Amino acid sequence: MSKITAAITAVGGYLPDYVLTNQILETMVDTNDEWITTRTGIKERRLLKDSNKGTSYMAIKAAQDVLEKSGTDPKDIDMVIMATATPDMPVAATGVYVASQIGAVNAFSYDLVAACSSFLYGMSTAARYIESGRYKKVLLIGADKMSSIIDYEDRATCIIFGDGGGAVLFEPNEEGYGLQDEVLRSDGIGREHLKIDAGGSILPASHETVDAKKHYVFQDGKTVFKFAVSNMADGAAKILERNDLTGDDVAWLVPHQANKRIIDATARRMGLDDNKVMMNIERYGNTTSATLPLCLYDYEKQLKKGDKLIFASFGGGFTWGSIYLTWAYDS
Ligand code: COA
Repeated sequence: MSKITAAITAVGGYLPDYVLTNQILETMVDTNDEWITTRTGIKERRLLKDSNKGTSYMAIKAAQDVLEKSGTDPKDIDMVIMATATPDMPVAATGVYVASQIGAVNAFSYDLVAACSSFLYGMSTAARYIESGRYKKVLLIGADKMSSIIDYEDRATCIIFGDGGGAVLFEPNEEGYGLQDEVLRSDGIGREHLKIDAGGSILPASHETVDAKKHYVFQDGKTVFKFAVSNMADGAAKILERNDLTGDDVAWLVPHQANKRIIDATARRMGLDDNKVMMNIERYGNTTSATLPLCLYDYEKQLKKGDKLIFASFGGGFTWGSIYLTWAYDS
């Protein structure tokens, strides 16, 4: 019997309607379109404005899109992995609620929390379950309501992040398509540079923490940028080398969308032209766990069976890595 590989067989996505443009941000904080565009590549981002709706709302929409496009009966889903940095609430996993809402009544589910690398790590996790032969349909969702943890008076962070959700279905493949190799890393040195101080077990919520705005994201952008540029490019270069690939062999780089300059540096290191780089940061900003599946969602029509894709990510923690995957279908 041939080896089972874990292939992506369907892609879905969801973006909220509200568009927060650089021009609107100019009226909120001391910033300008030119600074944001040249430093980050971002022009606008989407926000889920309804305060009664959480990350699960976007995750459910993205998952339903996958089910509909692939004609999958939700009862056949074995597992739902919910990659997110902004769960609906602590303790009760968001993925469990999402699975129930989409009718995946025979699945088990949990959240996978690794900041901006949550989806990348989720790909690795989903692939192991499929490769085991025990699970046939694993739904991997990446969604984040970043607007729920961003201070819209802090220009260092509010210009960067957006809300959104994406999802993919992993299934066994016996032709060898799917996940081929991975380089995944983490380093606790990053803990102080990108974090939310309060609301966890070290500093539970109190009047003082709320008054001090400690429930919002803090980022030391310069330091994170430095680590992101070198590590994302290193991971991608390593995976090329290990698989005897050059930039010419690669059809697409699927990079985490945190900053266009980080993406450009990774592509240059891989010897890739711009037309092989998936990019939507201009329209969505950094949607954290949703960036990778939303790239696939936007570029799906251009993907062909056999295309070699290199995924690369970097995020808080620090967490980072790269995955080599061959595309399993003509879209
Ligand atoms: N508008 C205008 N000016 C701003 C600004 C804004 N939104 N934010 C910061 N500035 C100012 C700073 O105050 C600073 O001014 P000064 O030189 O007078 O002190 C200047 O612009 C440069 O700030 P700096 O923080 O050095 O900018 P940068 O080039 O590093 O860009 C980020 C800032 C956040 C865009 C960039 O550091 C970044 O993308 N970091 C990594 C993010 C990332 O990859 N995250 C990964 C995990 S998701």
